[in-house]
Amino acid sequence: MCGIVGYIGNTKAYPILINGLQKLEYRGYDSAGVSTIENEKIACIKNKGRVKELDNMEGTHFLEGTVGIAHTRWATHGKPSSINSHPHLDSSETFSAVHNGIIENYNELREFLTNAGYKFLSETDTEVIPNLIHYYYTKETGNNEDRFVHAVSRATKDFKGSYAIAVLCKLEPDKIVVARKDNPLVLGAKDNEMYIASDIPAILEYTNNIYILNDGDLAELKAGSVKFYDKDFNSIEKTPEIITWDAKAADKNGYDDFMLKEINEQPTAIRETIGTRLVKGGKCNFDDINITKDFLLGINRIYIVACGTAMHAGIAAKPLFERLAGIPVEVDIASEFRYREPLIDEKTLIICISQSGETADTLAALKNSKAMGCKTIAISNVIGSSITREADFTVYTHAGPEIAVASTKAYTSQVTVLALLAIHFAEVLGSRETALIETLKDEILELPSKASIVLENTDMLKEFAKRIYKEKDVFYIGRGSDYAAAVESSLKLKEISYVHSDAYQSGELKHGSIALIENDITVIGIMTDRRLVEKSVSNLQEVITRGAKTLIVTNQDLDTKLFPNILRIPEINTLLSPVIAVIPLQLLAYFVSKEKGLDPDKPRNLAKSVTVE
Ligand code: G6P
Repeated sequence: MCGIVGYIGNTKAYPILINGLQKLEYRGYDSAGVSTIENEKIACIKNKGRVKELDNMEGTHFLEGTVGIAHTRWATHGKPSSINSHPHLDSSETFSAVHNGIIENYNELREFLTNAGYKFLSETDTEVIPNLIHYYYTKETGNNEDRFVHAVSRATKDFKGSYAIAVLCKLEPDKIVVARKDNPLVLGAKDNEMYIASDIPAILEYTNNIYILNDGDLAELKAGSVKFYDKDFNSIEKTPEIITWDAKAADKNGYDDFMLKEINEQPTAIRETIGTRLVKGGKCNFDDINITKDFLLGINRIYIVACGTAMHAGIAAKPLFERLAGIPVEVDIASEFRYREPLIDEKTLIICISQSGETADTLAALKNSKAMGCKTIAISNVIGSSITREADFTVYTHAGPEIAVASTKAYTSQVTVLALLAIHFAEVLGSRETALIETLKDEILELPSKASIVLENTDMLKEFAKRIYKEKDVFYIGRGSDYAAAVESSLKLKEISYVHSDAYQSGELKHGSIALIENDITVIGIMTDRRLVEKSVSNLQEVITRGAKTLIVTNQDLDTKLFPNILRIPEINTLLSPVIAVIPLQLLAYFVSKEKGLDPDKPRNLAKSVTVE
């Protein structure tokens, strides 16, 4: 998805902008561009292609300005091209703007501005932004001091849709103005320098003093100072948050790829997510969200709403909430939920899960449900992200920055924190499942060390990847919580190796899809539920009889003649098994991707956070 970087200070902006764009490359993009103020004129260099190609373009290294903005674009309106890339200038080349999001009424605004004499060069919605700002700058001025920021504020009132924008003005070359609504934007402050980014890792190596903008906020930045305004142009005060991630956490740390680094970070991510929420012998601690017994007694249904991997964390969490808290749970895909008119009232609890906290479908589902009177909990990995500001309560995972597009450590952290939350609900409600709850708490504390054990066992997976990387279809099967791990493992394979795969509840495969099983096809079975192991073995026998080769992820003792490829994982209660069973299969997907010579960190067509519908 699109990325924004900006800088205003007393040193050359260009290297900082390029460096920031490189840090945002993981979001996925097709074009890149940069604008700086050079001798009171706006310089703008942009093209389709990678940030490295932008850096090789003529002129970039002559950019000396100390004020600049930059952008990576992921095409929505108009194909990837130099003209459609950001930054966009207004017709008079007075303003330069970068934008994330979508201006939904851009056709209407474009027509209005065209009638007023403005000329448009691109097919983008964004080009209306600098032109409309110019329109208000010349037509409706505030007092001289804040004329620029006032023009931006006035223009944003006309926008329908979502935006995070950063704007330069050659007539006021010592300022950058930014604004946001439904799209992330943060500011970093350090001595006499200010940084702008759509995502914290882009600027973390310069400062961890971060201002988070709320929906509708604007800011006027100068070297070393910043003024904030709300959507009605009232002056507001903000205090920066200190972000404790260090810049190194956003680097590869010696691994070939971010994805491999992040898979290996799971023991730490899980440990940090447990944090002080659970200590041996204690109860789960969620004092920060104040969920009372009366509140839970008034809830008769939970919807877990999310997209992609986060939704799969919901599938893993459903049996935990149902079994422990005794509340029925439905897991919904956010893009469906927002339009399907779900049954929501004050007895409904919505749990929205989003690593980034910015996924447009999840955010919209949350806003819609809130408007219908229910209570909402956000689970997110990003402090201050949009869903955390919308929800009644927020619970953070502490997985650290996840750079690879395919989510790994965020998923296992999400399932961990959801397990803790389900236990907390049970404890608040005074559940009678005390023995199970105590077992699960002990096992949660062991998840980091069990994850480490699984990570040591990679040779067999590398070998298996070599056997299957040319295949067209792979099947994943599991029952109960093992199905949750299966569906997430299958997504990992699709995302980064482009091998088609599907996941089935083991007992369901025979009701149709087994017609696809033929000689030498790969079926990956996950078996961690002792009660169901015999049934799962029968299901696997059904595919073996039809010529399938299998890989089994299990903690059970199985017949090695029947199953020659067994990847053993530590003993674990099946309710928590998705956290552990998924890890070898994340690695398998990674190795298949590498065998195919692909870049697992930046899979084609995918973006880390999808902030458009
Ligand atoms: C995109 C990504 C997926 C991710 C999903 C949800 O589709 O490509 O990897 O799982 O968004 O992201 P979120 O940030 O809301 O967890």
